[in-house]
Amino acid sequence: MGVYAKYVLPRVIDLAMRNVETTRLRAAWIPLARGEVLEIGIGSGLNLPYYSRDVQRVYGVDPSMELQQMARKRATVEPIEVEFLSQSAEETLPLANASVDTIVMTWTLCSIPNPPRALQEMKRVLKANGRLIFLEHGRAPDPGVAAWQRRITPFWKRIGGGCHLDRQVDQLITLAGFRIAELETGYLRGPRPMTYTYQGVAETSDAAV
Ligand SMILES: C[S@@+](CC[C@H](N)C(=O)[O-])C[C@H]1O[C@@H](n2cnc3c(N)ncnc32)[C@H](O)[C@@H]1O
Repeated sequence: MGVYAKYVLPRVIDLAMRNVETTRLRAAWIPLARGEVLEIGIGSGLNLPYYSRDVQRVYGVDPSMELQQMARKRATVEPIEVEFLSQSAEETLPLANASVDTIVMTWTLCSIPNPPRALQEMKRVLKANGRLIFLEHGRAPDPGVAAWQRRITPFWKRIGGGCHLDRQVDQLITLAGFRIAELETGYLRGPRPMTYTYQGVAETSDAAV
């Protein structure tokens, strides 16, 4: 791993993910998490302050040891049990089938090399009545913006830790067998190719309706 990926990128990610807009969305959605929570791409632990007392434990998956160190510091000041899993979300998680109540995934699907594989693993561990809470940026509906997203992504993913700007988040989630129960989309403040955001909740399609 190069100096940029090991020393610079984790600090850039931590700083970039602490802006007014991300903070507002975390405060709106993360308190919905309940029970045993699996957080995919826990990063530097910026969601930790927003978990409610209804959360028993958070399993925090992330392959970056540098970000995990930051998350561990944040976890010490929160009244919540966090178990860190140093691995990629596509790899088999050390969790039983249908064992977690909530999955939280914020600004992570863009960076996962194989999103369908990771979503299958999420589906395996989520209880039938469990929920996937997602806040993700992705492909914009405006053809002009989407064209720029396609053009910029090859360069962007090299400097942004594998981040793709052009993933159709709702479609990826649905194709993995989830049913989207709530969805809000739109641009946040900032450059449009980077800020088109999908916010919502998905359930396993086996859940009783
Ligand atoms: C933009 S950061 C977002 C971090 C955090 N979710 C947040 O909201 O601040 C993307 C995160 O995805 C993680 N990531 C990259 N590839 C991954 C993978 N294959 N499985 C799980 N997490 C991954 C990165 O290490 C990083 O923590």
